[in-house]
Amino acid sequence: MTKRHRLYLLLTLVALLILLIFSTNFYFIRWLAVDQEHPVPAQVHSRSLVPAVNESDALIKVVGRTASIQQLVETRVVKLKTVFKNRNPRYDPVKRGLVRSFGAKGYNISTVWKIASGWPSGNEIFPQKDEKIGKVIRALQEAQILRARNTPRGTQLKLVFDLAGKQSVLFKPSWYGRDARLEGPVYSGKDRHNSEVVAFHLGAILNLRWTPIVVGRKVSLTEIYAIADDELRATMIKNDTRQCVYGKCHYCRQSETVCDSSEGGTLEGALLLIIPGKFAKYRSPWQRTYQNGVSAEWERNDGYCAKVKEQLPLERLLDLIDAAVFDFLIQNGDRHHYETREDRVLLMDNGKGFGNAFKDHFDILAPLYQCCMIRRTTWERLLMFSGGALTETLRELNQIDLLNPLLTKEHYIGLERRLLLIYATVELCREKYGSKILK
Ligand SMILES: *[C@@H]1O[C@H](CO)[C@@H](O)[C@H](O)[C@H]1NC(C)=O
Ligand SMILES: *[C@@H]1O[C@H](CO)[C@@H](O)[C@H](O)[C@H]1NC(C)=O
Ligand SMILES: *[C@@H]1O[C@H](CO)[C@@H](O)[C@H](O)[C@H]1NC(C)=O
Repeated sequence: MTKRHRLYLLLTLVALLILLIFSTNFYFIRWLAVDQEHPVPAQVHSRSLVPAVNESDALIKVVGRTASIQQLVETRVVKLKTVFKNRNPRYDPVKRGLVRSFGAKGYNISTVWKIASGWPSGNEIFPQKDEKIGKVIRALQEAQILRARNTPRGTQLKLVFDLAGKQSVLFKPSWYGRDARLEGPVYSGKDRHNSEVVAFHLGAILNLRWTPIVVGRKVSLTEIYAIADDELRATMIKNDTRQCVYGKCHYCRQSETVCDSSEGGTLEGALLLIIPGKFAKYRSPWQRTYQNGVSAEWERNDGYCAKVKEQLPLERLLDLIDAAVFDFLIQNGDRHHYETREDRVLLMDNGKGFGNAFKDHFDILAPLYQCCMIRRTTWERLLMFSGGALTETLRELNQIDLLNPLLTKEHYIGLERRLLLIYATVELCREKYGSKILK
């Protein structure tokens, strides 16, 4: 080989090398650019029922996104197997046990409250099966009211009654008739006293005994006036001959009163037995913004649960998912904060349920469909009450209450419809991630 040939060869090699570096670089740069155009979506790594996001999906509005999950779930309801649609014979003895426990019974006023105050353990407020529950119920229904005062706790009108036997209870008055139909956002309207009573019964059925013990009761505001303290009396006015009250609280207004009825001269309300112990209060990770057109992060970010998992222990998250299932059934979309007792979640304020029998606010279930997991015990309990058994049992417990009927037929239908939506949601999660979703 001549010197000249060697030079040619060297030049060719250098040229090839330069070409190689260039092209690699080009591809490298291109790869970088592509990656920036299509960032790996965070949701790929998190477990959720939400379909994988693509660029056009990202443009779908919050509402549309929830609707698309709801649609997916509704389609799945139609294909649910018979096990979800037929009655499971195992519910019957459970139902009979509950009816026996809850049935009103004679009691001794000097001991009955002590029985109830000895029950709470963690977030479980009353036992699964104990006929003494019926004694406490009867005592709440008829014990003499000795004193009454206002409490500014919470945002709505609530009174505190001291009952015979040295027991304080909360009184939440009735604002609506049973067939009221509230439109607008899920948190619209004032408290529903019947929702508090039904929540107590439903908690017992689902074995989420995390609610206070509640009964419905008619009271006479004329009689309450006679035993009210000065502060409460100052907020009690007459309308015509009827005694009314507006109370003192964030939303209390003299123009918004509750009154004794013209016939009978009484006002319906819910009496809640105050739960003993220490409570801690936390902001719900799935809190709404309470502003029109402003969405919270959980409403925008499909991978939101991954973030919650980093911040909360598993047990707390599973409690919140149970609470979401419960709240979806009663349609309470107002659990902006939750309270705990011995580190376990309580179902404290249940007055915002049953506002509209014809509507299912699906996003109350977000903790379930965004996290795609549920306690196995909760799931098995839900399965036990399939095929109409849930509302059959609920109706029988409701009958024990003095204010029964507590719900219209449409609300019971709504409960069964929502139970199927819960089944379908869990089934979709299971199809996507397997049985490990049951904790
Ligand atoms: C992205 O979403 C659009 C509209 O929802 C859909 O038509 C399209 O097929 C989706 N693309 C992929 C890759 O999933
Ligand atoms: C109720 O309980 C108290 C205290 O234990 C007791 O003294 C009283 O005799 C009981 N009353 C009845 C009617 O059993
Ligand atoms: C008195 O009651 C009537 C009938 O319920 C109602 O229309 C009116 O607004 C009430 N007045 C006041 C001052 O609350």
